[in-house]
Amino acid sequence: MSKIKHITCIGAGYVGGPTMAVMALKNPDIRFHIVDINQARIDAWMSDELPIYEPGLDKVVKETRGKNLFFSTKVDEAIKEADMIFISVNTPTKKYGIGKGRAADLKYVELCARQIAEHAGGDKIVVEKSTLPVRTAQSIKKILKSTSNGYKFQVLSNPEFLAEGTAIEDLLHSDRVLIGGDQDEAGQAAIQKLVEVYNSWIPRERILTTNIWSSELSKLTANAFLAQRISSVNAISALCEATGADVEEVAYAIGTDSRIGPKFLKSSVGFGGSCFQKDILNLVYLCEFFGLHEVARYWETVVSMNDYQKTRFASKIISTLFNTVSGKKIAFLGWAFKKDTNDTRESAAIYVADQLMQDQANIHVYDPQVPTEQMYGDLNELETRSDEDNRAQLTAYDDAYEACKDAHAVAVLTEWDEFKADQLDWQKVYNSMKKPAFVFDGRLILDREALTKIGFEVYTIGKGK
Ligand code: UDX
Ligand code: ADP
Repeated sequence: MSKIKHITCIGAGYVGGPTMAVMALKNPDIRFHIVDINQARIDAWMSDELPIYEPGLDKVVKETRGKNLFFSTKVDEAIKEADMIFISVNTPTKKYGIGKGRAADLKYVELCARQIAEHAGGDKIVVEKSTLPVRTAQSIKKILKSTSNGYKFQVLSNPEFLAEGTAIEDLLHSDRVLIGGDQDEAGQAAIQKLVEVYNSWIPRERILTTNIWSSELSKLTANAFLAQRISSVNAISALCEATGADVEEVAYAIGTDSRIGPKFLKSSVGFGGSCFQKDILNLVYLCEFFGLHEVARYWETVVSMNDYQKTRFASKIISTLFNTVSGKKIAFLGWAFKKDTNDTRESAAIYVADQLMQDQANIHVYDPQVPTEQMYGDLNELETRSDEDNRAQLTAYDDAYEACKDAHAVAVLTEWDEFKADQLDWQKVYNSMKKPAFVFDGRLILDREALTKIGFEVYTIGKGK
């Protein structure tokens, strides 16, 4: 087989967009075509205002767009022209039927596979990029084979390990790239082609090749391990508050043990994002499927612990505000699931807001990147109350000071740099608030001592009084 010349990516989201942009930057001889059924999203990719916020992304897209990186909604054509097709469509948790609330909903992936089979017009290498439960490649293969018109398909698994907010950095300097494929000759040849694409900038020893099932399972396992660390440190944060220990000191103390290491030990109001919860639930579902109930329960507690942390934070706000937030104004600094992204999927802010709103609080939000309508969309998805009620109880602002004005309490839900002590004028915030003025730091970014000096009553996750 000859070298890859055309790569198509189906799905122009948080994964497909940045990944292809960096690949295009590093492979000027290959033509990349990103397609999506969502016209508005494609229009945004073609404009100066990209649909996703990601530091460094603008620059990479500007350098490649129109040269060897193209965007369109012409899915069928893009399938036909490509030697290699990445599937980067969304795989949300199923909201109905068997596996509801746990299994991944593969309808978009399946649809893609059918589209590829129908419009292939030649041999193709199909790469699964979306997070998929183990053995999805099997289903993709089956669909491709049964509708193949005699063409040959190779299916590879190439899970993404980029984290939002640092996607470009992660892609440019990956710890490792993982490629899984069939162990026969044709499978190995396909793996080699993808290795070559990555090898334009990733050293060969950092490109790991495995069988397809190992690759799929490694992705779920990596995320489950990372999430488990956060849930573990969050479990300890509750104990710190009860005993007077300081979770940051504990995290530092254990993180200096080289066997444990310092990363992913930051206690918080709870992890969010499109991957962690979904991947763990996927793992749980898989274990159940294979009758491994104890293993399923084990991983499930990582998610339960995360839910507990969000509830605990909201309850803390209510109990501190004299056991009622009814009619009170609570300002939220941040809505995104972490800083430097406009993504809000599974963000802790949504659940904390929902719980406070059940206690009839009015939530006033400022987030530098999240559009107001997205906040209402997130709340509406929970189906706790009507859209009308959500709009009545939550207001969004373009300015942190406006959001905090006349508030009974301020809660930090996202660790945006601009909320830190040296960037936000906390004295000004204090002056404009109702007294006593409370601040709840769900992200360990505030200077507790300085805020106390101003006059705030401060609660910080994982710190006793
Ligand atoms: C994650 C994985 O890191 C990435 O490898 C995978 O491909 C996709 O899922 P992402 O969800 O983008 O990436 O962000 P990540 O930085 O992992 O953070 C996830 C959540 O955990 C965020 O809500 C973050 O605020 C929280 N977190 C992270 C903590 O609460 N404490 C930490 O120490 C680290
Ligand atoms: P991720 O974080 O995994 O990238 P996103 O939701 O940001 O998830 O992106 C997935 C994209 O895939 C969406 O823009 C969606 O419109 C697109 N998509 C889903 N199904 C198809 C399909 N059959 N053909 C083309 N695009 C699709």
